[in-house]
Amino acid sequence: MAVNYKEIGLVNTIYMFKKAMDGGYAVPAYNFNNMEQLQAIILACCETKSPLILQVSSGARKYANQTLLRYMAEGAVEYAKELGREIPIALHLDHGDTFELCKSCIETGFSSVMIDGSHHPYDKNVELTAKVVEYAHKYDVTVEGELGVLAGIEDDVVAEESTYTKPEEVEDFVGKTGVDSLAISIGTSHGANKFKPEQCTKNEDGVFIPPPLKFDILEEIENILPGFPIVLHGSSSVPMDLVNMINKYGGDIKDAVGIPEEQLRKAASSAVCKINIDSDGRLAMTAAIRETLAEQPSVFDPRKYLGPAREALKELYKHKIVNVLGSENKD
Ligand code: G3H
Ligand code: 13P
Ligand code: ZN
Repeated sequence: MAVNYKEIGLVNTIYMFKKAMDGGYAVPAYNFNNMEQLQAIILACCETKSPLILQVSSGARKYANQTLLRYMAEGAVEYAKELGREIPIALHLDHGDTFELCKSCIETGFSSVMIDGSHHPYDKNVELTAKVVEYAHKYDVTVEGELGVLAGIEDDVVAEESTYTKPEEVEDFVGKTGVDSLAISIGTSHGANKFKPEQCTKNEDGVFIPPPLKFDILEEIENILPGFPIVLHGSSSVPMDLVNMINKYGGDIKDAVGIPEEQLRKAASSAVCKINIDSDGRLAMTAAIRETLAEQPSVFDPRKYLGPAREALKELYKHKIVNVLGSENKD
């Protein structure tokens, strides 16, 4: 059954981004696909009074069931109210790859969609993005497009090398498509291995230090599109304490490298209004679950290991809001 996001208390990203741009912070876009993640996200944002973009990939939609997911998002809005905080919440499709998928999400209560045509030739990206925008705007749904390709894995699309966004294309792209925000490629990538070890230097503790993000490209884009909301994907920091904890308790994650928090803070104070984080949540949950199961081998009630994982996740999300994105008290 079709439902418009407004009926279930969600908002699109227009006002959120305007405030973020004026206030020099970024709105957290946290991915979820299960109840404990959703609870942790809502609790973290309510306790810090942060606006929130709840993000769902096509894989997550298949995993959780699209109907269940739509009611989970509705439940999240009610849960926030119950916690006494009516924070603005957007429900966003992450890396939509077809017009049909975006349309289906819009019909099932999403308030924002991403159409990721970045792996297509430029003209095809423009055509596909413009088609989604034309449809979405009829329902006041906001649209994120992407220019430039992130290294790593974007859902089913594997890009071996990063192709940075070309600043000379952004004005034409935004003008022709009518997108509300633009994801750009300036050196971030998805997952826990954002750089190869040979691309990094090492500090005195043997920790990999990645090359800095391309702030010159970001600045050029800001000059060409003043006041236009920019989105950063692949923005997990891959905290070494979480990776070490996973490996200590039987995991095997090698050569993990993320984006240093200071660089994300700097990006958040610029035109970057939305910062996407998924992998760090996965690491926090996995570390906590592994620890509980290793230290309490007799536990078999899922609440006994998912509960601590949810708590760890909430703390991670709060830390990002307060210390990295700057969206605390911006509800
Ligand atoms: O950008 C990709 C997100 O981290 C979602 O990942 O497709 O495995 O759900 P997923
Ligand atoms: P990370 O893999 O760095 O968390 O990025 C998530 C993302 O960009 C989702 O779209
Ligand atoms: Zn992404």
